[in-house]
Amino acid sequence: MYQTVSYPQLNSTPFADDNCKINGNFAHKDILSLDQFSVEDLLALFKLADEMKQLVIEHRPSSLLAGYVVSLLFFEPSSRTFASFVSAIKRLGGQTIEIQNPETVSSINKGESFEDTIRTFEAYSDAIVLRHYHAGSARVAAETATIPLVNAGDGNNEHPTQTLLDLYTIYKHFGRLDNLTCLLAGDPLNSRVIHSLMRGLSLFEHNRVCLLSPEQLRLRRADLAYWSECGLRIEEIDNEKQIPARCDLWYWTRIQKERFTSLHEYETVMKQGFIVTPELLHARAGKDTIVMDPLPRVCTIDPAVDIDGRALYFREQIRNGLYIRMALLALILGRA
Ligand code: NCD
Repeated sequence: MYQTVSYPQLNSTPFADDNCKINGNFAHKDILSLDQFSVEDLLALFKLADEMKQLVIEHRPSSLLAGYVVSLLFFEPSSRTFASFVSAIKRLGGQTIEIQNPETVSSINKGESFEDTIRTFEAYSDAIVLRHYHAGSARVAAETATIPLVNAGDGNNEHPTQTLLDLYTIYKHFGRLDNLTCLLAGDPLNSRVIHSLMRGLSLFEHNRVCLLSPEQLRLRRADLAYWSECGLRIEEIDNEKQIPARCDLWYWTRIQKERFTSLHEYETVMKQGFIVTPELLHARAGKDTIVMDPLPRVCTIDPAVDIDGRALYFREQIRNGLYIRMALLALILGRA
């Protein structure tokens, strides 16, 4: 049965396999971790994302992925990641096989193994986009399939394509990805988005990251040590009053309810959570501080903040997910 598959825990371990590094060539690569990218790889991706944005804005039809089929297997709920991948594929003229809740609608329900499921969708498609609740499942799938496998979030491990769009958003806004003072708030322990973002920010010089969370949700000590070694200057705080003045960026994440083993524990931690309000922005942010959130917004940002020009989550950030995923798919399928 599916649950018997073993999934390695990959948190904080450097991406060991050098063959997986993009190293200037995206074609036929799996996308599992931000650790695969160099600064040059990111800039090449961003350049193509700029072109994709123009294509979308001008409603120019594209046949870049005509003749290509991509399977989306989403074992966990998703709005933005799922829809932006589907939109990206369709806007480039490709086709999709969309399976949400494979445990209900696919043969996994009859007891088929995870690996056999991957082998099956591999037979019908040119790439697989996978979201799964187990850390390490994307790696297992990539080792099973010979077509490119894109990690669309694996448990509390990583969410590399979210970070690609986040870094693109920051880069387009500030024109740089170094010398940034960043506040990352919410759930550093469980947020795969934070884990990938830390990896991304560590690629650039002189980045300072301040982590605001209830004490129970601090990063694992091994992760803290690893990213500090990678060059990030990391501070941990548990009070809004300690937010550094003049941050370039506030990045808010929700407390990841689904990673808790007890509802009581989740509810206890939620009471110590932090919410961005107009008042907090006024008190602790600068006039140029941008506010980001991977969304969904669940006790992260007061809707009254949405009209603030510094709030990018429903503007650039969410739209950039489309352009980045178009660019990434075109590159890994060897079409750009
Ligand atoms: C994130 C995720 O699934 O990890 N959402 C997303 O993909 N935009 C963040 C979250 O669920 O909190």
